[in-house]
Amino acid sequence: MSGKDKLIIFDTTLRDGEQSPGASMTKDEKVRIAKLLEKMRVDVIEAGFAIASPGDFEAVKAVAEAVKDSTICSLSRALDKDIDRAAEAIKPANSGRIHTFIATSPIHMKFKLQMEPEAVIEQAVRAVTRARGYTDNVEFSCEDAGRSELDFLCRIIERVIDAGARTINIPDTVGYAMPEQYAEVFRQLIARIPNSDKAIFSTHCHNDLGLAVANSLAGVMGGARQVECTINGLGERAGNASLEEIVMAVKTRKDYFPVEVGIDTVHIVPASKMVSSVTGFAVQPNKAIVGSNAFAHESGIHQDGVLKHRETYEIMRAEDVGWSTNRMVLGKHSGRSAFRAHLKDLGVEFDSEVALNMAFQRFKELADKKHEIFDDDLLALVKDSQQIVDSDFVKLVSLKVHSETGETPQANLVLDVEGKETPAQASGAGPVAAAFAALESVLKSGAHLQEYAVNAVTEGIDSQAEVNVRLEHEGHVVTGHAADLDIVAASVKAYLHALNTMRALEERLHPEHG
Ligand code: KIV
Ligand code: ZN
Repeated sequence: MSGKDKLIIFDTTLRDGEQSPGASMTKDEKVRIAKLLEKMRVDVIEAGFAIASPGDFEAVKAVAEAVKDSTICSLSRALDKDIDRAAEAIKPANSGRIHTFIATSPIHMKFKLQMEPEAVIEQAVRAVTRARGYTDNVEFSCEDAGRSELDFLCRIIERVIDAGARTINIPDTVGYAMPEQYAEVFRQLIARIPNSDKAIFSTHCHNDLGLAVANSLAGVMGGARQVECTINGLGERAGNASLEEIVMAVKTRKDYFPVEVGIDTVHIVPASKMVSSVTGFAVQPNKAIVGSNAFAHESGIHQDGVLKHRETYEIMRAEDVGWSTNRMVLGKHSGRSAFRAHLKDLGVEFDSEVALNMAFQRFKELADKKHEIFDDDLLALVKDSQQIVDSDFVKLVSLKVHSETGETPQANLVLDVEGKETPAQASGAGPVAAAFAALESVLKSGAHLQEYAVNAVTEGIDSQAEVNVRLEHEGHVVTGHAADLDIVAASVKAYLHALNTMRALEERLHPEHG
C-alpha cells in the first residue's frame, strides 16, 4: 500500500457522453461498453438518466443486471418521480447509487428554476432524504457550481450531507472555471463546511474552454477524491473531462498527485475504439493517449532518440494503455468457435445463434478478400451485423457504381424498402454523391447531411473503410456507421443506418405518425 488516498473514477460516458447530439447508444451497446468499463475496474458507471425515457430506464436496468463489480448509478433531478424511477432502474445492481441534482447558480435559480435559493435548499434536502430511503449511496450535484456563490454552496452542501448525501459533486457545468480557482473552491468548501468529512467531493468538468482535464486535476489537488469523466472526453457540447487523460496523468505523475487510481489501463484503447465506433465520433489523430499518433514519432531526431533509449521522448508505454492489443487474430481457416471465443475476449457476446451465424458469415466473406483479420476488423464487422435489424425499413440489396476520368459518376442501387425491391439511380459529383443522390431519389427523407467521414479500420491498403455520417431532420440528429472494403458500399450502408435510426427515433417520439 502506498498510503495515498484512492481517487474514485466515475465514468459518465453512458449518460453525459450520450448527451452529445448524435451520440445516442442502444441498450445493447451500453451494456457492451459498461462491461468493458467494469473490466477496466472503473469504480462507478453512470448508466443513464432513468426518467428521461423508457429506453434510458431499460438501459440503466440492463447495465445494473450485467455489471457486478462496478457501482451502477442513475441520474435524477431533485424530484420524487425521478428518484423513484432511478431507484427502480438500479435495483438489480450489486452496488447502486442515486445521483440527484439541482442548479445552485444565481442565473440558473432565477431564470431556469424560477425559485428562491431557500426553496432550492429545501428541494435538495427532500430529494436526498428520499433517495436515502432507497440506498445509502447517494450523490448530490450542485448544477452550475462553477458559477455559484461559495456561501450558498456551503449552506446547501452542509444540509444535504446532513440529509445523507455521501458524495458531493461540484460540476463546472458550462466549462467556465480556471484550474487554480476551481481547486480553491474545493479547499474552501472542505475547510468551511462543518460536516465535509462525511462526504467525498467530486469534480465534473466540461471542456468549453479546453480546460476540463486541467480543472479536474486541479480539483484533485484541492481535495476532490472522485473525478467524473468520459471515454474520449465525450459529453455535452465540447465534451467532458477525458477519463484516459486523467487516469494516465495520475499514473504517470505519481510523484505529483497525492492519490492513486485502480484502473487497469490496458483496456483504455479498446474502450476508446468501442465508444468511437458505437457513437460514430472519430478520435482525432493527435488526441492524447488514444489518438492514432499519440505514440508515433515522425521526426528523425525523435525516432533516433526513442530507438536509443525509449524514455528520451516517451513518458508512457503504448502497450500500457492497450495499443498493442490490435493483434492479427484470425484467418480464413478459423472456425466458428474460435471466432466466438475471440469476440468474447473483446467483450462481444451474441444473444442468439442467428446473430452469431450472420456475423460469422460476414467474417468468412471478409477473410476471403483480406488475408489478415485484426481485432479492429472484427469489431467493425460485428457492429455492422448487429446494427442491421429486421425492423429496418430500408436495406441495401445491391450497388453498382460507374466512375471514369472525365465522366460524371453514376450509381445504380437496388433497395429493399419495407420489403419491396426498389431500383434507384442518379449521377453526382463523385461516386459517393451519386449513390446518396440515388437513394434519396427514392427515399426523399428530407434529412440534411451534416457530416461525412471515412477512416481506415486498420493499417494497409486492404483495410476496410469505416464511414460515419451524421444526419439532421427537424431538429433531431442521428449518426450512422458502417464498414466495408468498398468505400461506396460502406457509405451507403452508413447512410441507411442513420435513416433507419432516424425513423425508429421519430416513431418513438411520434408513435401516432408510425
Ligand atoms: O454538467 C453537469 O452539471 C451535469 C450534472 C447533471 C452532474 O452533468
Ligand atoms: Zn455534465
